[in-house]
Amino acid sequence: MRFALNIDHIATLRNARGETQPDPVTAALLAEQAGVDGIVVHLREDRRHINERDVRLLRELITTKLDLEMAATEEIIKIACDVGPELATIVPEKRQELTTEGGISVIDNVARLKETVSTLHKFEIEVSMFIEPDINQIDASAEIDADYIEIHTGVFANALTEEEQFDELDRIRTAAKHAKKLGLGVNAGHGLNYSNIKIFRELTDIDEVSIGHAILARAVFVGLKEAVREMIGLLRV
Ligand code: PXP
Repeated sequence: MRFALNIDHIATLRNARGETQPDPVTAALLAEQAGVDGIVVHLREDRRHINERDVRLLRELITTKLDLEMAATEEIIKIACDVGPELATIVPEKRQELTTEGGISVIDNVARLKETVSTLHKFEIEVSMFIEPDINQIDASAEIDADYIEIHTGVFANALTEEEQFDELDRIRTAAKHAKKLGLGVNAGHGLNYSNIKIFRELTDIDEVSIGHAILARAVFVGLKEAVREMIGLLRV
């Protein structure tokens, strides 16, 4: 299972003081040295963490791959086409939310998202839909010609009982298998951490996990490279 690191909260910390440190670009380069397979950033409409300068510098400097999480708005699509990440992950975005709270409904936005995929494809950018583990959303993602889905794992991560966690894991397993059958790549993320990754890694149809908060929280105590290496150790047993 590949592992891409979301570095948004390095920028959150930087922006808290309106200073230049810690720099998310430095974080990305250190994470690459420690072995991550890709770097993920969410360029939000309100620029609360990652900004355009970060995205452009990351594009120039990283040597793995850049996954740009983004809302399907005209402004951000234009920036994405100009920057050229390897992957654009389309997420819903609300100004009030602390973090992305769930998947996008492809079913309810077929025309708009189909056009978004087509525009990004013209710039040779692959496109992923961040969705719930729902068969109908997966079918709709394939219909609009997405290349990947990213399965929202928040329900799994927040499960209060083992039974709830297993039920959700089962839904994710079924969804991933279905997506694979349709020829879609399968990523997953949200709320994955050093504990829950141990059962999550059994889902062999998941190509890549996208993890941010747990790694950056651990990095405060052990350093970023060590935090990354520990997660890689858990993913590659
Ligand atoms: N995937 C998506 C689409 C996200 O929005 C986020 C959160 O920014 C993540 C993965 C990573 O979630 P976490 O920070 O909880 O690991």
